[in-house]
Amino acid sequence: MPAEDGLPAGLLREFRRVAGESGVLTGAVTAGYATDWTGAFAGRTPAVLRPADPEQAADLLRLCAEADVAVVPQGGNTGLVGGGVPGHGEVVLSLARLRDAGPVDPGSGQITAGAGITLAEVAAAHPDFDLGVLIASRGSATVGGAIATNAGGLRVLRYGPMRAQVRGVEAVLSDGSVLSHLGGLVKDNTGYDYPSLLAGSEGTLAVITAARLQLVPRPAGPVTVIVGLDGVAAVHSLALRAVREVGGLLSAEFFLAEGLALLAERAGLGPPLPAPVPAYLLLEAAGPGAADDLAGLVGDLPAAVGTSPAQRARLWAYRERHPEVAGFLGTPVKLDVSVPAAAWARFTSEVPGVVTAADPGARVIIYGHVADGNVHVNIVPGGAADGRHQDAVFSYTASLGGSISAEHGIGVLKGPWLGLARSPVEQALFARIRRAFDPAGILNPHVLPR
Ligand code: MLT
Ligand code: ZN
Repeated sequence: MPAEDGLPAGLLREFRRVAGESGVLTGAVTAGYATDWTGAFAGRTPAVLRPADPEQAADLLRLCAEADVAVVPQGGNTGLVGGGVPGHGEVVLSLARLRDAGPVDPGSGQITAGAGITLAEVAAAHPDFDLGVLIASRGSATVGGAIATNAGGLRVLRYGPMRAQVRGVEAVLSDGSVLSHLGGLVKDNTGYDYPSLLAGSEGTLAVITAARLQLVPRPAGPVTVIVGLDGVAAVHSLALRAVREVGGLLSAEFFLAEGLALLAERAGLGPPLPAPVPAYLLLEAAGPGAADDLAGLVGDLPAAVGTSPAQRARLWAYRERHPEVAGFLGTPVKLDVSVPAAAWARFTSEVPGVVTAADPGARVIIYGHVADGNVHVNIVPGGAADGRHQDAVFSYTASLGGSISAEHGIGVLKGPWLGLARSPVEQALFARIRRAFDPAGILNPHVLPR
């Protein structure tokens, strides 16, 4: 009979010796750590470990490795592929209490931030600087989780994903050692760049406890515009023109009439434009000439423009509230894919039919990031378990030269389809890298090849 809800006898006591009573949660209070916010992924855990500093994190991890107990690292629990949820009864290692942050260094524009600091807090740390990654869940998503999943979001076309913001990391390995490379040098060509490797590793190699982040100058005088268009081909060609012609372009986002109608019906959002159109492109730009460049680009097309914070927030709500839309209808399967620019318009117009051919009752809500080829395909009712939707969408994506994960990662949602994106040679190398970092094999064992 397993002791202590599946944990080896005495391990909870050891956890408490390291992290104290308040650093180890058991029972009903662990429920919020065992389910994701969409409700699509639910599990259970014998314990949630909440270290107060990196040394506690290292000691807790070493105890787990010695006892051969699997661990799911967790940040803000805002992931969308089940990679931070204990689906197989793993211990959860929450980094939420690692909240130390240094000052922003105005010379380098860098900050050292604990893994549990939210992205919104980093973005607000200095009036002259911003975080290059902007995601709708920024108030909950944390530095550690955003690096571990290589979060993308609304400004990737300008600043790249989370990996591109990282100048160094501190992380703990499952043998209890602490890796620390937080100097922040822009030029530092001294061997393997493991901070870059940890970005996107989804908690399978090491547990990030802090990071040295490169901030960007805060965009000056941002202007937001929503343009109405007659379909996705027009959305794509206008977005590509914006990339070429609008110097300070920050974002090029799209949504469609069906999602907008649901936002109106369920969330009471009035329409952005006087008359409905099939497709909408949201552009944001900042800096000298941004307003003129956008006006020149948009010309006589129907458009709504925002310059004040309140006006811009109102326009952004149409796009940023789209993740809620599929949830109004049920628990969605959320697939995020990217395709080459030449295939984007075809993919975006055909993918609803690809889904309904596999599941005639499905509704498909589409939105995403146009300029980096990323389309979010949300399908309701869900049914992630039977894999029909992944089969259909991922095969179609791969046939066009695309990726089965543009920004959310592989997690448990996409694991069986990784072969569509990565060769057997690559997957075998993943497993060897993984063994080098985590020979005990305890870190997120159900995510990525082992
Ligand atoms: C987004 O772009 O809104 C996020 O990736 C979240 C989502 O896909 O729902
Ligand atoms: Zn996205």
